[in-house]
Amino acid sequence: MTLLTTSKTAPGAQTGSLPATEPLKIVGLSGGLSSPSRTLSLVELALARISADAEAAGLASTTRLIDIAALDGIGALRSRPASEEIEAALQAVEGADFLVVGSPVYKGSYSGLFKHFVDFLDYRGLIGLPVALLATGGSERHALVIEHQLRPLFAFFQAQPLGTGAFFTERDFANGAVSAGAPQERFERLVHEAVHALVARRRHAHPAIERAA
Ligand SMILES: Cc1cc2nc3c(=O)[nH]c(=O)nc-3n(C[C@H](O)[C@H](O)[C@H](O)COP(=O)(O)O)c2cc1C
Repeated sequence: MTLLTTSKTAPGAQTGSLPATEPLKIVGLSGGLSSPSRTLSLVELALARISADAEAAGLASTTRLIDIAALDGIGALRSRPASEEIEAALQAVEGADFLVVGSPVYKGSYSGLFKHFVDFLDYRGLIGLPVALLATGGSERHALVIEHQLRPLFAFFQAQPLGTGAFFTERDFANGAVSAGAPQERFERLVHEAVHALVARRRHAHPAIERAA
């Protein structure tokens, strides 16, 4: 399930007024089905950039990348608890301090696999959670998938999606790199907003939200 789990603690980090606590948990969730998947590599890039910029801002973080399609036993979940690996993935998302989600556009919306995983998250598990919304598509025709599909889904969870989302076609994002110009500017803005949200989360650490058993 976990393709990447890293821990970064800024060497000699100046935390200023920030309390010294556990590293912030940044979790990436990709609903791509291809192999290789552009969506997965976009989520991976965003995770790496957000973590690196957070570190530069004095915030220690861990990153964890969940490739839903690679989860053992994914397919037709009927109930929870699911398999050990899927349960760990669901709990990682529910326990995150920041979530980066990405889905390919399938028939004008997020992939069914992505929604299938999200369907099994505790409905109270993402309250107040900052979320970066990413999507990849074949053309710009469905660029509003972020605003019309992903944003309302995370509103259901009372999560807090960043103002900037990023929808990239192959022209905007290929071979692991964001194209120069408008796509790069949008991506940088998203990373900037993500770090801002992480700083705010650390400053105003919310009491843990009780979750369903
Ligand atoms: C079943 C299927 C349906 C798709 N539907 C759309 C669509 O409605 N709109 C669109 O822009 N792209 C559509 N695409 C293209 C994918 O969104 C695009 O290739 C995406 O970047 C693939 O991401 P991945 O490499 O992570 O799988 C579709 C692709 C597939 C396989």
